[in-house]
Amino acid sequence: MTEIKKIDITPAKGRLGILTVGMGAVSTTLFAGVEATRHNIAKPIGSVTQMATIRLGKRTENRNPLIKDFVPMAQLEDIRFGAWDVFHDDCYKAACVADVLSKEHLDALRPYLEPIKPMAAVFNPRYVKLLKGDISNVKEHKTLMEKAEALIVDMEEFAKREECERLVVVWCASTEAYIEEKPVHETLEAFEKGLRENDPEIPPSMVYAYAAIRHGVPFANGAPGLNCEIGALQELADKNGVPISGKDFKTGQTLMKTIIAPGLKARMLGLKGWFSTNILGNRDGEVLDDPESFKTKEVSKLGVLDYILQPDVYPDLYKGYYHKVRINYYPPRGDSKEGWDAIDIVGWMGYPMQIKIDFLCRDSILAAPVALDLALCSDLASRAGWKGIQEWMSFFYKSPLFKKGLYPEHDLFIQQTKLKNTLRYMMGEDMITHLGNEYYDQ
Ligand SMILES: NC(=O)c1ccc[n+]([C@@H]2O[C@H](COP(=O)([O-])OP(=O)(O)OC[C@H]3O[C@@H](n4cnc5c(N)ncnc54)[C@H](O)[C@@H]3O)[C@@H](O)[C@H]2O)c1
Repeated sequence: MTEIKKIDITPAKGRLGILTVGMGAVSTTLFAGVEATRHNIAKPIGSVTQMATIRLGKRTENRNPLIKDFVPMAQLEDIRFGAWDVFHDDCYKAACVADVLSKEHLDALRPYLEPIKPMAAVFNPRYVKLLKGDISNVKEHKTLMEKAEALIVDMEEFAKREECERLVVVWCASTEAYIEEKPVHETLEAFEKGLRENDPEIPPSMVYAYAAIRHGVPFANGAPGLNCEIGALQELADKNGVPISGKDFKTGQTLMKTIIAPGLKARMLGLKGWFSTNILGNRDGEVLDDPESFKTKEVSKLGVLDYILQPDVYPDLYKGYYHKVRINYYPPRGDSKEGWDAIDIVGWMGYPMQIKIDFLCRDSILAAPVALDLALCSDLASRAGWKGIQEWMSFFYKSPLFKKGLYPEHDLFIQQTKLKNTLRYMMGEDMITHLGNEYYDQ
């Protein structure tokens, strides 16, 4: 048997700055939740890094530490938050606008949220059409390259001001209009030329990703856009030894899909159709009302089932199933979205059955712990010396990034095994195969 060696990981000494692009519903709920945990107002429910345990060794060894005690993860006490946004509202005001948290929580957390003021954003209305309000907290530099360099200065100043040893950047800003990879995105050389020449095919998200990666800061993409998923930025991440990951926080309906679909497939039950529709009334929903932004989201949501069900491998069960995803902007519901799934499945001898799901979820309550876990895992990967796409973080994403030539892993349970085995591997522990023969052979 090959000996498993522990990876050399730089300890999580000093403060970690988590910078989010966008300070809307997800970011403010993330910041508030971490402050609430620090001040014993709430528990970090939904966060795998904070609440999950990991089994080590044989079942009989009873070694089940919390993940945060097993790997050298940054402590919540050591986190400092910052953000960029196009609006001037401080974090408390932004959290009030987002309307996710109760007045009781907002009042209690106000002293910690109010001091967080957004840094000026890189913005282009062409990519987010339906954002309304006083969009004036924006950088006015002439070229996209100058804007990227200004973002780097922001990061340096933030780290100095908040005395942070390390930073991570998480994209939590609005979903941008759909674009596909063009020649300007393919190589670093072409991309940097495009930044200098203000190429209209470069959206703000790529400018932030470029700035973070160029500055050696891990970058995680919580939205469905192309963002760091382009040749140029992957080249830069490899060159600079920076971990990147994406895309689109796995929450709501897609979370349910990746829980249920692997179960149906595991039992070899067929699928005729899966109709998903939902209503939400937050700012994210308003932005997604623009067909170009919705297209970005739709592509991210639709891929999931095909990868899990593998219709080419199981044509009798899954060939030609119908899959539709609808998002409807409905202001009265705010962040408390309602998602319905009508699932038509097929059983023994071809008999049809139906499953109905009515998920009354809170989008940002599901997304905030994911954003926290991504920030902490990105920082961990960076200290472990890992670079480029971090596939082991697929667990947290709707549409995981993968190396060209591979395919993404969407099955939540495979993703969970991969996540935990990666942590075991990092720390030089045996992988767990769940074979279990040894208990019976003795
Ligand atoms: N809420 C969820 O459960 C969830 C799940 C998966 C993905 N997402 C994605 O996460 C992102 C954030 O969601 P949200 O609910 O917080 O949205 P939100 O609208 O409440 O917040 C987004 C913020 O980003 C800001 N913004 C837009 N463009 C910007 C730019 N170029 N630079 C800086 N700031 C910018 C907006 O002003 C806004 O304050 C969206 O793209 C959404 O699709 C959210």
